[in-house]
Amino acid sequence: MTLYNVVVVGATGLVGRKIRDILEERNFPVDRLVPVASRKSVGLDILFKGLHVKVAPLDENAFVHADIAFFATKNDISREWVPRAAQHCRIVIDNSSAFRQERGIPLVIPEINPRTIFTSRSRIVANPNCSTIQMLLPLKPLDDAYRIRRIVVATYQAVSGAGQRGVLQLEHETAGKSVPEHNRVFRHPIAGNVLPEVGVLYSDGFSSEEYKMVDETRKILGRCSIKVAPTCVRVPVMNVHSEAVTVEFERPFDMRTVQRILQEAPGVVLANGENGSGYPHALEVDGRDEVFVGRLRRDESVSNGLSMWIVMDNLRKGAATNAVQIAEAWVKGPSAFKVETP
Ligand SMILES: NC(=O)c1ccc[n+]([C@@H]2O[C@H](COP(=O)([O-])OP(=O)(O)OC[C@H]3O[C@@H](n4cnc5c(N)ncnc54)[C@H](OP(=O)(O)O)[C@@H]3O)[C@@H](O)[C@H]2O)c1
Repeated sequence: MTLYNVVVVGATGLVGRKIRDILEERNFPVDRLVPVASRKSVGLDILFKGLHVKVAPLDENAFVHADIAFFATKNDISREWVPRAAQHCRIVIDNSSAFRQERGIPLVIPEINPRTIFTSRSRIVANPNCSTIQMLLPLKPLDDAYRIRRIVVATYQAVSGAGQRGVLQLEHETAGKSVPEHNRVFRHPIAGNVLPEVGVLYSDGFSSEEYKMVDETRKILGRCSIKVAPTCVRVPVMNVHSEAVTVEFERPFDMRTVQRILQEAPGVVLANGENGSGYPHALEVDGRDEVFVGRLRRDESVSNGLSMWIVMDNLRKGAATNAVQIAEAWVKGPSAFKVETP
């Protein structure tokens, strides 16, 4: 079996730690792991597959003998270092949004568009936004069957989606402690609160997270005509995002077939309960890799409307699991996806 030298940049953060865990859990063929983080973490000891490994600084040396690099860092670091890493590595998988809309760089959900890893010929692969992965995994097979015209979505996003500082702010506020300024990531209190602001709020009233959901949906489904109306909301939940989604199809559907399609969809669990009485919730989905769907019901206000409740662990399938699955697909190679190589 071929083994790979792997670099994880941002290895001490929420997503980077999960990438390390998931590489181990899924027994990804790692020869050597190089964890990279900011200066303050350099030299820290981390455990990977029972071995102690020291956190390395972010410099060119980290990538020299690497095959695969995962980036779990903010946009500015990815923007500078992902192309430099790609000069050394065979594939670089980036969790930030720095390259997601760049032409020629694939934006990949392995259950949906794995072939683009090989057809694009880019060494950089972008991991989509968590809320978009969550929404599209169940919607893609329904799109294939009934063709989506419009999606209206409200997200209920956990604080872990904002990284370690998001978790710390909720922990401090819940414990009644004052939040150190350098750990404040939400501009209003989040404990006991609901904030309709995820990412940056622009002067047109939209947030950066809402734009990501629109643009990334269109890129992944390959259709600019799809209409998406998102409202992204931060809630005082530690981990796991939820979404209320209403979708309007071009073609009529019947509920039994919709249920069957979702039961058969890879990576999706239909948790609709007996006669639609059940639903998935954040606490039970924490730590799971699948995307859970419940509260399926017809939206009678339009011709072919369907409403549902979708729940996903944002750190796992929304980030780390999806990234490791991209690496697994790359390891399988183009022939596994019927992509011809020149
Ligand atoms: N959280 C989610 O649910 C989620 C989902 C999808 C995508 N993403 C994206 O994934 C990326 C990482 O998010 P996160 O939630 O893991 O953030 P995080 O918890 O804040 O972790 C950030 C990581 O970046 C490292 N870092 C900071 N400055 C650095 C520098 N100058 N050089 C090298 N490493 C540096 C940090 O190291 P130190 O520990 O040393 O500071 C830490 O390991 C972001 O782009 C985010 O938008 C996150």
